[in-house]
Amino acid sequence: MTMNDTGMESTPKRKKLQKIGIFTSGGDAPGMNAAIRAVTRAALANKLKVVGIRRGYQGMIEGDFISLKSSDVSGILQTGGTMLKTARSAEFRTPEGREKAYQQLKKAEIDAVVVIGGDGSFTGALVLSQEYDVQFVGIPGTIDNDMYGTDYTIGYDTALNTVVEAVDKIKDTARSHGRIFFVEVMGREAGLLALNSGIACGAEVILIPESNEQHDALKKFISKGYKNKETSGIVMVAEGDEAGGALKIAEQVRKDHPDLDVRVSILGHIQRGGRPTARDRVNATKMGVAAIDALLDDQKSIMIGLDNEKIVHVPFNKAVKMNHSIDTNLLDIQKLLNI
Ligand code: F6P
Repeated sequence: MTMNDTGMESTPKRKKLQKIGIFTSGGDAPGMNAAIRAVTRAALANKLKVVGIRRGYQGMIEGDFISLKSSDVSGILQTGGTMLKTARSAEFRTPEGREKAYQQLKKAEIDAVVVIGGDGSFTGALVLSQEYDVQFVGIPGTIDNDMYGTDYTIGYDTALNTVVEAVDKIKDTARSHGRIFFVEVMGREAGLLALNSGIACGAEVILIPESNEQHDALKKFISKGYKNKETSGIVMVAEGDEAGGALKIAEQVRKDHPDLDVRVSILGHIQRGGRPTARDRVNATKMGVAAIDALLDDQKSIMIGLDNEKIVHVPFNKAVKMNHSIDTNLLDIQKLLNI
């Protein structure tokens, strides 16, 4: 508290925003570049200077900073990956690492920071803002779409389409050989990518961490559906499913049914690359501009989200602590249609 002219106590005014930092952190996601472009240009349009922090929190600790002009973000809207690079920093998890990061921000006279990433990235921002009063606004960027408070995270739509394209191809060979394919998709502890890609590909079974009952569906499909119809099948497996990954589940099925022709396909990091879809580009652009609006409005420790296409502000502590629920209705639909 300070005293104002009238001798009354007043809260000190935050320093006027002049320079912002922007960085990407955690796993990359298609559309992060579109967000970097939108943030940079919206900031420049508002007469703010922009500093790109390279390699996530690790680059912040090391002062790996570049100044960004409009032309620096030209031609990146349609590219995958992140031009600022990304990292998962162990050093930032330590108080010493965070102190170094804060000192670097101070030295570069960065007044506020836009962080593009997932829950680990926002947890880091929350801790730093509590320890050193740094103004952070977050943009959700992860193919997992697992953040509470937003319908979409940047990269999810592109990853979903990548999975669908890959599984369509796997289906061709599965049908030709009469095989069951266990296809493992990313998502960490979340099953959204597996659920929606499974629906989009007409998978026979979808195994996700949010629901157990699909394991019965798998047994039923193998003992009745598959054997009777002597046809092929796609079992989508979320990497976070409780029964283990696709390899483990397929191994068990092989043991129980040695007569079946079973194959496993782990899609892996192909899901994180590629040109962002139109939807990811539009979402990233809307969220990037909204992040600058929020900073200018003196907002801090919030994530920009999309709720029914409308921009919303979600406090970091809610976004990281609560789960994005899945649409269980989709599982019912899948069961209904697999007759
Ligand atoms: O969070 C994105 C994600 O791709 C998850 O789906 C996956 O579990 C994880 O990152 C893989 O991380 P890394 O690329 O560090 O192995």
